Amino acid sequence: MDAQELRREYPVLDDVAYLNSGTCGPLPRAAAAASAQVLHHAERHGRAGEHFVATAHTQERRRERYARLLGADPSDLALTTGTTHGIVQVLQGLDWHEGDEVLTAESEHPGLLGPLAALARQRGVRVRAAPLERIVDAVDDATRLVACSHVRWVDGTVAPDALAGLRGRVPVLLDGAQGAGAVPVDVGALGCAFYAAAGQKWLCGPVGTGMLWIDPAWQARLHVRAPGYDNLAVPGEGLDALPWPDARAHDAPATSGEASAAALAAFDVLDDHGWPQVLERAAGLAATLADRLAEAGHAVAPRGPSTLVSWSDPAPVATRDRLATAGVIVRDLPGTDLLRASVGAWNDERDLDRLLTALRP
Ligand SMILES: Cc1ncc(COP(=O)(O)O)c(C=O)c1O
Repeated sequence: MDAQELRREYPVLDDVAYLNSGTCGPLPRAAAAASAQVLHHAERHGRAGEHFVATAHTQERRRERYARLLGADPSDLALTTGTTHGIVQVLQGLDWHEGDEVLTAESEHPGLLGPLAALARQRGVRVRAAPLERIVDAVDDATRLVACSHVRWVDGTVAPDALAGLRGRVPVLLDGAQGAGAVPVDVGALGCAFYAAAGQKWLCGPVGTGMLWIDPAWQARLHVRAPGYDNLAVPGEGLDALPWPDARAHDAPATSGEASAAALAAFDVLDDHGWPQVLERAAGLAATLADRLAEAGHAVAPRGPSTLVSWSDPAPVATRDRLATAGVIVRDLPGTDLLRASVGAWNDERDLDRLLTALRP
């Protein structure tokens, strides 16, 4: 893999040490061009038959790409507006009874906690949290679903392999926002029933793109909450129209052709450089950053083999802003004393140097 060639695809890296892909990845110029092309065509020729045929074609290519990344079949993958959307589709699509319990992990993201809190309020489901590292031991007879991170957003800890042992006992919904495109994902090996992830983070696509993988064994048990023109098999059948019999039934009800084209182009930039190489380089650089921060005296939070590196700071918001002024983009994590750097294959040692230099008092 030619790391410098990959880096040149992302104009933002010409100016700043962009270490914020855990929020939104750097947008490659190919994505901006693909989006502009769709918009210019629409501007000139309108949005009728040909436009929708092209969008549907782009969607299916994107579905194939995302499915391949997760080691899955395209028919088991829904195209969503992001991780949160996929999580909501699952939590609102399952059958619940008063007193059922969802076991989640501590320090989860609002994109999981918000939908869980709504479920508790609206359906009387109990939500209990355990440490991610020991979540499997916390499963009990009332647990109907385990819903937790694949990679924890606050520090890059990876969910334990033992989660796979729950298969056949309790379904697992993995929040893969910091997983897909960041670490190797094989939904079969993970043993989960549902995997929700984002297109705008480690796949460098636009906001409003994402995916939900649904184990075929769970598809018939997941109610379709928002059937519409795009996810009905034969929309013209009126009240008799049924959703697609596979994961397409859970596609987002509106599709932006320009966003889909950008997401596909962004994916292909990384695909062309080889996913194994992209993932390995990102994890290696992140580990290097963690070591260098620790050597410089920073308290690095315990982490896993992921692309996130967090460390304590006495004034995280002020430091974040000071770093931004120095051209280094990281984020603070509200409610903690942590700053977080997200390291991708598009970064290089120069970005790490800039961060470490800018952190010096
Ligand atoms: C672990 C985790 N879950 C969920 C989300 C929400 O993702 P999305 O914006 O794709 O809904 C994020 C976003 O940062 C995240 O880090």
